[in-house]
Amino acid sequence: MRVAVPAETEANETRVAATPETVKKFIGFGATMVVQSGAGIASGIPDADFAAAGATIAGSAAETVADADVILKVRRPGPGELPGLKRGAAVIAIMDPYGHETELSGIANAGVSAFAMEFMPRITRAQVMDVLSSQANLAGYRAVIDGAAEYGRAMPMMMTAAGTVPAARIFIMGVGVAGLQAIATARRLGAIVTATDVRPATKEQVESLGAKFVAVEDDEFKQAETSGGYAKEMSAEYKAKQAALVATHIARQDIVITTALIPGRPAPKLVSADMVRSMRPGSVIVDLAVERGGNCELAKPGEIFVTDNGVRIVGHLNVPGRLAATASSLYAKNLMAFVETMIDKDTKTLSPNWDDELVKATLLTRDGAIVHPNFLPKPV
Ligand code: NAI
Repeated sequence: MRVAVPAETEANETRVAATPETVKKFIGFGATMVVQSGAGIASGIPDADFAAAGATIAGSAAETVADADVILKVRRPGPGELPGLKRGAAVIAIMDPYGHETELSGIANAGVSAFAMEFMPRITRAQVMDVLSSQANLAGYRAVIDGAAEYGRAMPMMMTAAGTVPAARIFIMGVGVAGLQAIATARRLGAIVTATDVRPATKEQVESLGAKFVAVEDDEFKQAETSGGYAKEMSAEYKAKQAALVATHIARQDIVITTALIPGRPAPKLVSADMVRSMRPGSVIVDLAVERGGNCELAKPGEIFVTDNGVRIVGHLNVPGRLAATASSLYAKNLMAFVETMIDKDTKTLSPNWDDELVKATLLTRDGAIVHPNFLPKPV
């Protein structure tokens, strides 16, 4: 079983899909490991470390993937990466297929089995493979660090001979995996933290982290969680009441971090231009939802935008990639845990059980066709 780790081709992608630690584990499962030269550099892993772990270093992408049975990637392979892949090989990555159906057809035509890690079911057995959690957790942490770096004042209260510095007020909107880590990080820095979410279950989580919960808690709110644990789209009436509450609250905040998402829909708009205008100069908004349309009306993808009234709106893309070494080490372990379930320990070959629920949930293409129910061609 030959396992290939090509360098990522997308601009801004600093992560890599394997680390020396996972390379050693794969070799322990009987794999031959090939890593493209330079693949780990942006994550602080030189070729020599991969070689010391037992990998062969290949000079080019084509050499890396030649005859590989498994290709580990962070991002979906681009059209230029497909011709060299062996038919029947497994390509495992964050595939981001929604809105990229043409690219998905290209991958199907290459004859590979493409697995989307972000479709991993959120069940106990698959927690160790949950890339959404491993990467969102880091994004939540990094959002606070980025916010603090843009903010021209200190986070904790400080009593000094020259006077008392007040603690910063940080408001976290959306308390999923990223939001919870943002709360914990902001608390560790000494800020006064408040948070909001539409799922009632989050209230207790917020309070257990020492932050205050801010939301309109009416009957609709009490039923706002799906059985899968995700947020629902709220009614126009609820949104208006919540927006009014948030508007008065935001005007008094120093840093606002937004992480709110609804599966399969654009990010809800939670911070209006008027709310931004109500904030003091020097305040900061970090919008982690910017890649899905943004929670803040004024956020610009990939930019730090400064408004006329001096509010800095941070719209970094690929926030986990801003902690490339940590993000890669967790992502690589997520991948390894999944691939391990598909390895036949006796023959030391990849032999997926096509009926396994993890395989069924993540498999997008196989034998030249798109097979995932969400992307099957619509009957005419
Ligand atoms: P997500 O990334 O889909 O959304 C982030 C947060 O935004 C959610 O908490 C959501 O309720 C909130 N949100 C949506 N609309 C909002 C609005 N209008 N105002 C305020 N907040 C809004 O969520 P994530 O981080 O993927 O977590 C979703 C759920 O999955 C959580 O219940 C989490 O605990 C659960 N989970 C379960 C796992 C497991 O069982 N293995 C692993 C990870 C998460």
